[in-house]
Amino acid sequence: MSIDFHKLRVAEVKRETPDAVSVRFELPEELREAFKFRAGQHLTFRREIGGEELRRNYSVCVSPSEGMLKIGVKKIAGGAFSGWVNDMLKAGDVMDVMAPHGSFCWAFDETARREYAAFAGGSGITPVLSLLKTALAMEPHSRFTLFYGNRNSPGVMFLEEIAGLKDRYLDRLSVFHFLEEEEEEIELFNGRLDRTKVEEVLSTVVRPQNVDAFFICGPGPMMDAVEEALIAKGVDKPRILIERFTTGPLSAAQAAAARALEEKAAGLKMSVTLNGRRVQVAFDPEKHSILDNVRGAGLPAPFACKGGVCATCRAKVTAGEVSMKVNYGLSEQELAEGYVLTCQATPLTEGVALTYDA
Ligand code: FES
Repeated sequence: MSIDFHKLRVAEVKRETPDAVSVRFELPEELREAFKFRAGQHLTFRREIGGEELRRNYSVCVSPSEGMLKIGVKKIAGGAFSGWVNDMLKAGDVMDVMAPHGSFCWAFDETARREYAAFAGGSGITPVLSLLKTALAMEPHSRFTLFYGNRNSPGVMFLEEIAGLKDRYLDRLSVFHFLEEEEEEIELFNGRLDRTKVEEVLSTVVRPQNVDAFFICGPGPMMDAVEEALIAKGVDKPRILIERFTTGPLSAAQAAAARALEEKAAGLKMSVTLNGRRVQVAFDPEKHSILDNVRGAGLPAPFACKGGVCATCRAKVTAGEVSMKVNYGLSEQELAEGYVLTCQATPLTEGVALTYDA
């Protein structure tokens, strides 16, 4: 993954709902290769706001076949970055953007005849919309079912676009909206997508055993409810793909255990490679993570959320052992290949070697 930020000019800011916009970027010829993306991936943005450098990830909401780069940004209460994008950003502005990355992806195959289902909540629709459009465009024999939860209809991002897709793919796309504050005739579609509702959906609308992949993105409790319901129905993990935007804090016991590990790691030497440059770093527990130790040593290691979610800080361990506090960003396969989230990592042994270049 390239760690460089590129300057991208905003081509259009479009209001999608009272508190969400989509932002389309101009892509000059020389950056087209760098910004090639897979459906479901996201971009890392950097900007100084109020004297502080902020970094945020936003998912691409278009399919690679659409030939454009576009994200969706919902304004979060108290969110400095999302508020700035919603209230201030305009066409012609330039943003610092990292090349697309992320593993909320699926290997689509034009000869496949598959069944997909997605559970999206609020702005969690952004990567799901990219996957949905890609599945339907790339796999002419596949079907997609979308379960989309929101508070009310004015707050539904991409409502018209989804309705247009439903018309276009009449036989292959099914969409079910769940609204918390509005009453529909069919009781199933009223209220939050919680465990009970998800179980009902999995018993009546889709047959989990027939679905090749479930895509899940939205508020934490919704994602947990869907994942638990799918596992209870016997769906195996490789068919459950989850993209988290945020996580809750560690429990007091987890935080104490993590702190004890950091203190035990004091002074352990690590060899870190970034952009072909290798440096030796001694772990300082006051900097808490391998990422902040590496950055403190002068290497511009990439990061965004620092919460174990986005995987922007991903590096591969080639020697020694490390422990992660949480991991919501790496797949089983990435873990097996030795990747870690350095914002969550503490060395366990002397002589850990890791590279951001893998
Ligand atoms: S910076 Fe997001 S997972 Fe580490």
